[in-house]
Amino acid sequence: MNQQDPSKFFDQEKAAGYDQRWAGMAPINDAQHLLLKAVLSPLGPIARVLCVGAGTGAELLALAAAFPEWTFTVVEPAPGMMAVCRQRAEAAGITSRCTFHEGYLDSLQPSQPFDAATSILVSHFLVDREKRKRYFAEIAQRLRPGGLLVNADLAANMQSPEYERLVQHWVSLHSLVGLETKTDHLGREVALLSNKEMQQLLIDSGLTRPTLYFQTLLIRTWVSEVAA
Ligand SMILES: C[S@@+](CC[C@H](N)C(=O)[O-])C[C@H]1O[C@@H](n2cnc3c(N)ncnc32)[C@H](O)[C@@H]1O
Repeated sequence: MNQQDPSKFFDQEKAAGYDQRWAGMAPINDAQHLLLKAVLSPLGPIARVLCVGAGTGAELLALAAAFPEWTFTVVEPAPGMMAVCRQRAEAAGITSRCTFHEGYLDSLQPSQPFDAATSILVSHFLVDREKRKRYFAEIAQRLRPGGLLVNADLAANMQSPEYERLVQHWVSLHSLVGLETKTDHLGREVALLSNKEMQQLLIDSGLTRPTLYFQTLLIRTWVSEVAA
């Protein structure tokens, strides 16, 4: 399965079953979204947010419910995922606050700078460092000075003595919630960066003050900003 082509990897069938498939991970996603809301809450009652790789809309729906006047630009290249996202946005009554862009960032029309961006469980699919840097740089370029990026990705220091143990716990977690998982793709089809490497990547992409604030086994979440 080609994880580098989201429209193939997240095809219609996967998209239709995505939320059900990952339902067992809801407590982790809930914690992820609670912290996302906390980290972005200083933006105040009015904000424009860019949601990149929004999938079926998990972080979009969480933010839209918590901040009723925020508006969102939703970027998602896989048509099946975008279709589910649109349906959920309609059901939540938030479409008037959303602009949907089916595609990648490079084809998104220029607009007023955003106050914040989210990239939740997306960038690890970009295994090539230069492509990943370009991805974060494209996000950074669309943020206002002082604008925030929250990114959550699979990550680990594969050379560290704890790595094997973390992977064992990762497998146990999947098995506990009834999901099969493989491990041979880690570090090959999805990039795994150490904290130091991720920090440097974010800085090289034009962001400052990268701060790791949440870790659940192989998922690490950072907030960084564009220099004011
Ligand atoms: C694992 S899903 C996560 C979806 C959602 N953010 C969540 O947390 O549930 C990753 C999503 O990123 C999208 N994606 C993959 N590569 C991307 C890229 N280069 N730019 C934007 N989105 C991408 C995929 O199509 C997929 O919907």
